[in-house]
Amino acid sequence: MIEQRRNLRWRGALSLALAAGVVVAFAGCTNDSGSVDSANLVNGKQLFVQKCGACHVMARAGSKGVSGPNLDEAFSSARQENWGDEGIRGVVYGQILYPNKNAPMPANLVTGQDATDVAAYVSTVAGKPGKDVGLLASAVAPAGGGKPAVAKNGLLSISADPNGQLLYVESTATATPGPIKLEMPNKSGVPHNVVIEDTPIQTPVIKNGVAKAAGTLKAGKFVYFCSVPGHREAGMVGELTVR
Ligand code: HEC
Repeated sequence: MIEQRRNLRWRGALSLALAAGVVVAFAGCTNDSGSVDSANLVNGKQLFVQKCGACHVMARAGSKGVSGPNLDEAFSSARQENWGDEGIRGVVYGQILYPNKNAPMPANLVTGQDATDVAAYVSTVAGKPGKDVGLLASAVAPAGGGKPAVAKNGLLSISADPNGQLLYVESTATATPGPIKLEMPNKSGVPHNVVIEDTPIQTPVIKNGVAKAAGTLKAGKFVYFCSVPGHREAGMVGELTVR
């Protein structure tokens, strides 16, 4: 049932795209190496992670957002129905330009050539098993894995992944008991905050800039996490040791 409705919506999106003449933009074809003529898949992947991944799961991009549909699930059924990369590309492009008005997906998150690149990347990987290879494998720096954050002079800084992945750069942190200022630099354009669990310390949610909070820490181990829905579950969580 759901599949049927989804396909109907896609056909709607496709005919809308046709009406607007955008499908003409997809005259290019896929070559042997899997890249798509006139589309830059590396740029498409980077932009997908930055602009789309916070709301959509897509395994090849490593994205874990849950507020929108899982794009692997959405398009694996389309592949079974022989939509092919071309058909899927048209749907994704149409969706970027004309998302459902009542849904939280903003229109035109990417435009022009960038929209073409994102649609091409998604159509090349969504619902396909395996991993990105070659230039695509290294298109986005792995998130997390930063050195532990260490509070200095009462200031603790924990950064959001600058590429838009749902992770902090530092997944562990240390501080001493007493007054603390907490900062979260966020260059990603994706909304995030830091909440230190079991304390009142919590920064506001910001998309760009440095979110700040202050409070007093007691000795112990604390979890810190992003309270934007889905982000903690996706891995935006760490452990703070106070001693
Ligand atoms: C704020 C969250 C959010 C962001 C950011 C977002 N989406 Fe979505 N997206 C959604 C939601 C919610 C839906 C389902 C409602 C709809 O169809 O508009 C959706 C639907 C879709 C669909 C249709 C899937 C289906 O099952 O039919 C595609 C394709 C898609 N998005 C691609 C993208 C791409 C590409 C980007 C980045 C340019 C993006 N989305 C950014 C929330 C988001």
